[in-house]
Amino acid sequence: MALLEIVKAGNPVLKQEAAVIEKVDSRLRRLLDDMAETMYKADGVGLAAPQVGKSIRCVVIDVNDENGLLELINPVIVEREGSELDTEGCLSVPDVFGTVERSARVTVEYTNRWNKRKRLTADGLLARCIQHEIDHLFGTLFIDVAKSLRNGEKK
Ligand code: CO
Repeated sequence: MALLEIVKAGNPVLKQEAAVIEKVDSRLRRLLDDMAETMYKADGVGLAAPQVGKSIRCVVIDVNDENGLLELINPVIVEREGSELDTEGCLSVPDVFGTVERSARVTVEYTNRWNKRKRLTADGLLARCIQHEIDHLFGTLFIDVAKSLRNGEKK
């Protein structure tokens, strides 16, 4: 496995709509491994492929719950319910935090690393993280949708 460089806001790859992944193969699995290692090393709870300079539709997420490491390939949110305001940050936007409104509960369909289509319903931090990471695949950063932003420590 290898650590990848996390690109920062201002890099055009973060503003692009990412491409659908046509082939789930060992090369993609290696990228997912490297993305997970990079996320854990940076103390993040999610990382989307555009954040490592790859404009393709996959994300890794681990919010320290019973799901463990989630790898979502071509994820699509198919159901949403409720809404919730909470604080977010992003490894591509260091030292900035903001209040973002998200759906309180989402159901996401995705392909796993063994090319099986899966469905997951989540709420709380996991739901928030899924929405944040999928936004990256549309070229949207949390600073584009935050109701307010601030510098410094997460509160
Ligand atoms: Co982010």
